[in-house]
Formats: sequence, structure tokens, C-alpha cells
Amino acid sequence: MPELGRTCVRDPGSVLPAGFWAAVTVWVEKPQVVNKRLCGSCVEHNWDQAAVHTLLPGLSCPGGDEEVLAHIRGYQESDVIVRTVIPKANPHYGCTEPRREIIIRDVSSNVVTFVPLEGGSGGHFQVKENNIYQIRLSAVVDDEWSLSLHTVYAESWESDGVIYPKISWMTNELLSRLAKWSTEDKKSDFKSTLSLIAVDKYSKLYQSLKEKYKDMVKVWPEVTDPEKFVYEDVAIATYLLVLWEEERSQKQLEEKQSFVDLGCGNGLLVHILSNEGHPGRGIDVRRRRIWDMYGSRTILEESAITPSDNSLFPHTDWIIGNHSDELTPWLPVIAARSSYSCRFFVLPCCFFSFFGKFNRKSSKKTQYREYLDFVLEVGDRCGFLVEEDCLRIPSTKRGSPAVTLQKRRPRPMPGGLGISPVMLVTPLLVIQPRGHVTMTRVASMVM
Ligand SMILES: C[S@@+](CC[C@H](N)C(=O)[O-])C[C@H]1O[C@@H](n2cnc3c(N)ncnc32)[C@H](O)[C@@H]1O
Repeated sequence: MPELGRTCVRDPGSVLPAGFWAAVTVWVEKPQVVNKRLCGSCVEHNWDQAAVHTLLPGLSCPGGDEEVLAHIRGYQESDVIVRTVIPKANPHYGCTEPRREIIIRDVSSNVVTFVPLEGGSGGHFQVKENNIYQIRLSAVVDDEWSLSLHTVYAESWESDGVIYPKISWMTNELLSRLAKWSTEDKKSDFKSTLSLIAVDKYSKLYQSLKEKYKDMVKVWPEVTDPEKFVYEDVAIATYLLVLWEEERSQKQLEEKQSFVDLGCGNGLLVHILSNEGHPGRGIDVRRRRIWDMYGSRTILEESAITPSDNSLFPHTDWIIGNHSDELTPWLPVIAARSSYSCRFFVLPCCFFSFFGKFNRKSSKKTQYREYLDFVLEVGDRCGFLVEEDCLRIPSTKRGSPAVTLQKRRPRPMPGGLGISPVMLVTPLLVIQPRGHVTMTRVASMVM
């Protein structure tokens, strides 16, 4: 198999070859980290193995490398995975349709082979023979290794600039990134981005909402940066809309979910969600000039939320706290007390406990991780099964450090008593004067 490029890897920490496989996993599961024209990838562990059986043995590439083809035909079943690569839904890109690939991992030889598939209508796929490629890790001497890229056909590689980048990109960008990942400590404190929703739906909807609301940037009357705020809120709205659509289909809900956004600030998130058909409102202690621009369909109220019996939302499906500062830890409490079925979504930014700045207890975790764990614990103590995800926010560095917490369903009560957490907590949660209630006390009161 012709070698198209090679890069040297130094491994003073002796993390190879395990580090190589960790790097390959990033390329398989999160190709968008290096190929910015991709939205993501969906790995299908349960893909029909029978289809793989029929596809690979029948593979033929006249003029292709027979040794490689024999290797591919004789793959080990346990080392085959199938992924769908999802391009960003950008009209300027030549290819916007998701494509499938079979990936064969030969761990004993440190070789991974990517076999692209074409077609797909009615479940009939064909191998796109020209674009089969391999990445190989080889030991050189002492701590020196090399990573190389090979294809079955060097000359007839077909690039669409998106799913199949140019060979020069593969040898320069991809190989050097894999080399870097192979020897660095990549453990992340956070979940993968968009792990709770379908990435392809997100990509399509994000592009269309970006187009629909881009003119807000031109008329933004606030002193804040319009590009940052508009595209950030479009991204958050997209996430919620996809999440809610999936929730409706899972729970067979006919009505679009209602919401209230606490500490809604400029109200753009409320405006987009309302415009997209979700009944809801935003509440903020300070009115903004931009509120007057939205029209009567976008309901925004100037009012202060004080966590108490007067700030509950019994008829609301979702309570949103997007960078809601001091209100953040109260969101699960307010949601738990509002109704048995109320869910919440929190996107923390500044770190507040119930009554003041959040104080760190552990130097082993990052501050963000420790704060999220705190909010997770509050949600758990309030009776929620809390799930965590990482949003893809265009304006934040490296694209994805924002994290969401949300209630998906109430935790079953012990012994199947059928008593809701809210029924249990209602008489117990007493809000004390400022400074008198610690998180542990509130949590134990809630429970
Ligand atoms: C950091 S800003 C975020 C605004 C908006 N959610 C966003 O992401 O652009 C926090 C907002 O929460 C509001 N806020 C803080 N405490 C509040 C309270 N107790 N009641 C209502 N609004 C509050 C502030 O006025 C501010 O607009």
C-alpha cells in the first residue's frame, strides 16, 4: 500500500502504542476537532454486522494493493466499527450529506483502516474503493516511533474537501494532530460535546437558525458584542429545540414544551424559542432596550426572582438558567418544587453557591468541574436524574467548554410508593434569611 506521508513521534513517557489508539478514538468519535468542516460523527456499535460481512469480503479494487485488500477482507469481527461522519450543514461546502465508514482496528499490528461507503438508500452500501486509507504506527528506535498514512490507490483519491479532505491535508494536518494526541494526556474533565442529542439534527437546525436570526447582529441595540451573543444564543436554542424534539418523540408528547428562562438578560434565547413555537417567557430583574424590538409574541418580564413559594412555575415544562449567576444553584430546587414533571436546564458560567460566592474545597479538580459537581449534587438531592452535556458554543475558546445539566425524568421513589419528590419536599423546604442556610441544609430539607 503506497505510503503518502510519515511523521515522527517521540514517546519519552512510554505511552505508545496505547496513546495511538486513544488518538485514533478521537479521530473516530470527534473528527470535527481537527476537520472543522465536520459537525461530528456517530459511532454505531449495533450496526448490522451481516451488512459488514457482505460488504467487505466482496471488496475488489482492480489495480489496488492486494495485500491490503486481503487484510480488509479477512477482518476480525470484534475489531470492526461503523461510524457516520456528519458534515456541517454549510451551503458553501460541496458535500453536506452524512457518509458511513467501516473502521477496522488491527491492534496487534497497530494499523487502523478506514473503508468509506457510498450510497445507502434502502440500506445498500458500496465500498468507495478509491478512498480507503490506513494509519500505521511503527516503532523506530528507543522512544522514537513513526505514524504513516497509506491508501490503496495513491493517484485516484477523490476529495470533496469535507468528508474526504485532500491528501495533503491528511498527511500534514491529520497525521501531525494524531502524533500530538498520541503522546499527550488528553483526559477531559467534561463530557463530549452534544452527547445527549443527534449531532446531524443539530447541525442542520443550527445552520438554518443562524441564517434566520443573523440580521439580529445588524440591529443589536445593546453595548454587548452582537456576534458573540446572537450566535451563542442560536447555538443554545438549537440544542434545546433538538433535545425537546427528541423528548416529544420519546414521550409521545403532542404539544411543544413550555419554558421559563430565569435571568434571561437580553431575552434573545426566549425570542428564538418562542418564535420556534414553544410557549414561554423570560424573567430578569433588569429590563433591556432590545426587549422592545421583539414584538408581542416574545414575553419578557422585569421582575426579581426570590427563591420562595412565590417563585414557582407549576405549569411549566422546562426551567432554563443560562448563565443565571446567583440563581444557578436554585434552579433544581425551583424546578423540583414547581411540579413533579418540571425539568431544568442549567448552563453555569459564574460560580455561586446558595448564598454567595462558591468556595472551592478541592484543588485536585478545576473550578468549573468542582462547580458542576456541586450543581449535579443539588439536582440529585432534589430528586432528579441529572445528565451532563457539553454544548458547542461558537464564541467560546476551543468551541465547547459550556456544560448543561438537565432533568430528564423524576427518580423513582423507593418502594414504588408513587409519592413525588415535590409532595415530599413541599412542607419541608423553608427558605431561611440570607447566610443561614448552607447547601447541605437546603439539600437535606429538600429531601
Ligand atoms: C450573566 S447574565 C445572563 C443573561 C442571559 N441569560 C444571557 O445568557 O445572556 C445574568 C442575568 O441574571 C439576572 N438576574 C440575576 N439574579 C436575578 C434574580 N434574582 N431575578 C431575576 N434576574 C436575575 C441579571 O439581571 C442578569 O441579566
